Amino acid sequence: MKYISVAIDGPAGAGKSSVSKAAAKSMGFTYIDTGAMYRAVAVFAINEGIDIRSDSEKLVKRLDEINIDIKYENGEQHIYLCETDISERIRKEDASVGASDVAIIPEVRTKLVELQRKMAKSANVIMDGRDICSYVLPEAQVKIFLTASLQSRAVRRYKELCDKGIECDYEQIKSDMEYRDKNDSQRAVAPLKKADDALLLDTTELSFEQVVEKIKELIQNAL
Ligand code: DC
Repeated sequence: MKYISVAIDGPAGAGKSSVSKAAAKSMGFTYIDTGAMYRAVAVFAINEGIDIRSDSEKLVKRLDEINIDIKYENGEQHIYLCETDISERIRKEDASVGASDVAIIPEVRTKLVELQRKMAKSANVIMDGRDICSYVLPEAQVKIFLTASLQSRAVRRYKELCDKGIECDYEQIKSDMEYRDKNDSQRAVAPLKKADDALLLDTTELSFEQVVEKIKELIQNAL
């Protein structure tokens, strides 16, 4: 059976995960957050005391030990690292910056892309990330590049973390986001970039509902 794939790329804080989750729920699709996988690798490095920027070789040598499992509990994606649920841990700021750093390492990308492609072969999916349209699922029936201004993305992320009761600092979030934008767009392997055939959606002036409706409409047209 051929499944439908919806690929959504964009920078941090553009609203990818919340709109993808809502559209997936409404259409009965499985939502796959690929950023969570890069965050899980970063958490492994942090737990093991590996300095990602200066010692990527050490991390690459231990890649086989990094067992990532995605499970769905009450419709929510939970991510497990070597059998431990780290779904909340990966949202901390050190995991955000660490994820952008591990994402530069080609061996890490190869491992995670393989897992992502496998998941897209077994269900109708909405998958979000940085390289989904261009690299992971180039054959996806729906391709979207979601973006927004740096300031509105930083404010969104700040509110999201505050709502979850996670302690955070707005200026720190904004500068981390700028760092990640640069890191994610300038890396050599599969950088963040709008695919030529992806639809550009700037969410700075759009409401959450408008973006979800647009994604659902694109899916309907593809079905
Ligand atoms: O979407 P996110 O903020 O949770 O992603 C965390 C980091 O992971 C992001 O800064 C870059 C990296 N990433 C990537 O390189 N490719 C993806 N498909 C998803 C995330």
